[in-house]
Amino acid sequence: MTVLAATLTRRVTCPGGNVVRNGACCALFPVLQDIQANLFDGGICGEDAHSALRLAFHDAIGFSRTRNVGGGADGSIVVFADTELAFHANAGIDDIVNTQLPFIAKHNLSAGDFIQFAAAVGVSNCAGGPRLKFSLGRPPPVAAAADLTVPEPFDNVTSILARFQDAGFSPPEVVALLASHSIAAADEVDPTIPGTPFDSTPGTFDTQIFVEILLKGTSFPGTGPNPGEVESPLRGEMRLQSDFAIARDPRTACLWQANVNQEGLMTSAFAAAMAKLSVLGQNTKNLVDCSDVIPIPKSFTGSAHLPAGSTLKDIEASCKLFPFPTLKADPGPATSVAPV
Ligand code: HEM
Ligand SMILES: *[C@@H]1O[C@H](CO)[C@@H](O)[C@H](O)[C@H]1NC(C)=O
Ligand SMILES: *[C@@H]1O[C@H](CO)[C@@H](O)[C@H](O)[C@H]1NC(C)=O
Repeated sequence: MTVLAATLTRRVTCPGGNVVRNGACCALFPVLQDIQANLFDGGICGEDAHSALRLAFHDAIGFSRTRNVGGGADGSIVVFADTELAFHANAGIDDIVNTQLPFIAKHNLSAGDFIQFAAAVGVSNCAGGPRLKFSLGRPPPVAAAADLTVPEPFDNVTSILARFQDAGFSPPEVVALLASHSIAAADEVDPTIPGTPFDSTPGTFDTQIFVEILLKGTSFPGTGPNPGEVESPLRGEMRLQSDFAIARDPRTACLWQANVNQEGLMTSAFAAAMAKLSVLGQNTKNLVDCSDVIPIPKSFTGSAHLPAGSTLKDIEASCKLFPFPTLKADPGPATSVAPV
């Protein structure tokens, strides 16, 4: 065996028997075991997994390529919670911060590492989800992020794209990141109906969000739209105005539609954009790649579908270059979406 081949095949067996490429990653297995059992309720794709992903975004996006607005994926949202949790865009994030705090205190990880690790593990609990990358070694944050780095659902497409561009993300990457809303629900947009999902399958990392955001019709049975909310024809579902607008804007409509029923494309583009997001503001030369600690998610074998009782005419096809793909409708009468 050549020296190069020996390097490529180097493996370390951790005390618990797991095999990884870098021994520094062994320290993550006890954390993995603890958070799967005690943070994610035995490894499910529920509210805590969803919120862990949202937290990873809100921590990391406090970053700019040109201005000093924050250190990116540095854990500042937890360490400087007094400042950052007061920002309007972080409404509801206090729940998951308070839930994660005792885990961060117990384990020997920086807050920045813990947040990104928990997000990758949380996503791995969702069938169809990508196996996200994880790198270890973020130092403690030095300061709170500035306000207005996290986009709001009532922001227009121009300002959302500009904010992401400022942090280093192109429009295709923005749309890729919004696959996250496949495993999402809102507590704060309309506080009278907490846990209202953005698609009919919030426990599965599938492409259904890219279908349902394009449905026509507004028969939402809630109390009426709040800032940033658009009604959905599906009972029990809520749509964010930002998702609704990005799905229809000429700059992003074809990028949006391209995800419909394209599970592999959606998850690989999401994983690539998340790899970038998770190390924003970090010197990656100082980080150790511990991606092999992240569990391999269950695959998703279904396909995208239209809600029962609807046809392609109910889709507001907004991409002018390609026709909306042909999808089958669910059988039976219209059903409602259960809260998370
Ligand atoms: C245009 C950009 C975005 C806007 C305006 C936005 C806005 C929102 C809002 C308003 C909520 C509901 C919060 C609540 O009321 O409880 C939410 C939930 C969520 N967002 Fe986003 N978001 C954006 C991008 C992202 C990105 C890039 C990610 C991750 C990569 C993400 C992940 C999530 C997740 C997982 C949830 C569900 C949280 C839960 O169910 O507990 N979002 N988002
Ligand atoms: C905590 O982690 C650091 C590396 O981040 C390591 O040097 C140190 O030995 C660890 N301490 C304990 C008690 O495991
Ligand atoms: C988008 O929002 C920004 C910030 O509120 C505002 O300055 C701008 O005029 C808006 N653009 C459009 C096209 O509405």
